[in-house]
Amino acid sequence: MRHFLSLADHTGQELQALLSLAQQLKSEWRQGGNSPRLQAKVLAMVFQKPSLRTRVSFDMAMRHLGGDALYLSPAEIGLGKREAIKDVSRVLSGYVDCIMARVFEHRHILELAQHAKVPVINGLSDYSHPCQAMADGLTILEHFGRLEGLQLTFIGDGNNVAVSLLFLAARMGMNFTIASPEGFELPGEVVEIGRRLATESGGAVRLLRDPREAVAGAQVVYTDTWVSMGQEEDAGPREAAFRPYQVNSELVALADRAAIVLHCLPAHRGQEITDEVADGPQSLIFPQAENRLHAQKAILVSLLT
Ligand code: CP
Ligand code: NVA
Repeated sequence: MRHFLSLADHTGQELQALLSLAQQLKSEWRQGGNSPRLQAKVLAMVFQKPSLRTRVSFDMAMRHLGGDALYLSPAEIGLGKREAIKDVSRVLSGYVDCIMARVFEHRHILELAQHAKVPVINGLSDYSHPCQAMADGLTILEHFGRLEGLQLTFIGDGNNVAVSLLFLAARMGMNFTIASPEGFELPGEVVEIGRRLATESGGAVRLLRDPREAVAGAQVVYTDTWVSMGQEEDAGPREAAFRPYQVNSELVALADRAAIVLHCLPAHRGQEITDEVADGPQSLIFPQAENRLHAQKAILVSLLT
């Protein structure tokens, strides 16, 4: 594995191996700490957007593994503005062992990777959020003991988080269903890739309009914000379009009785998810957030050792 940019780039076997390594590293950490597999390694964390989970979990993952991390804020680097992306990439490659970047445009992470001499990790772009989907996969695996054959239903925007979940599901033989309002569906080319990968793994992909129909039979109900970072100007029309797509108790009651509820966070309580559901017995949103740490340790160890 050279870079970690999109889950579609990795086979189901590779993703399974990463999830197993994440479980192993989590249990090792819980039993007293990780061995220093990444001693003297340094991760540069380049952010063009705000972050709580990604920033802190990558930083702590490096520390737990004996390495270190550097936070580089939007003001410091000015990726593509103060300095050309390919120059930033070459310069950082001379100082650090790995680059994690959160960018607006996906092509910027591809450009970073193209010119880097060290591995590059996608810490969220407008296209995808693969580290999040690995933490989600770990959470589902821990809860159900498997991924294959489970139905994951995403309610809402066909956004970056939905794209990575579709790729995870399609690679792992899950049945992926999404319900989105008109104009906010997953991009057509993503669905095409997802359908092709699902055919290979025995999974399935369904695109629906009606959230109630979509949650029927779901073992995992997932939602995310209606307004992603960078879309703030469009908030009004988005909130109106997504209003019928709230994950509330009434909707969750239509899913499988044993269903779990996931959200990548940050949550907009009272919008895409109610307090009752987010804090309810079926919600695993905080273990899911913790799993960012464990899933990313597996990604870092795979890339750097
Ligand atoms: N889920 C997630 O990526 O959170 P942050 O934006 O806080 O990193
Ligand atoms: N879809 C959200 C995810 C945040 C982690 C965004 O891009 O803002």
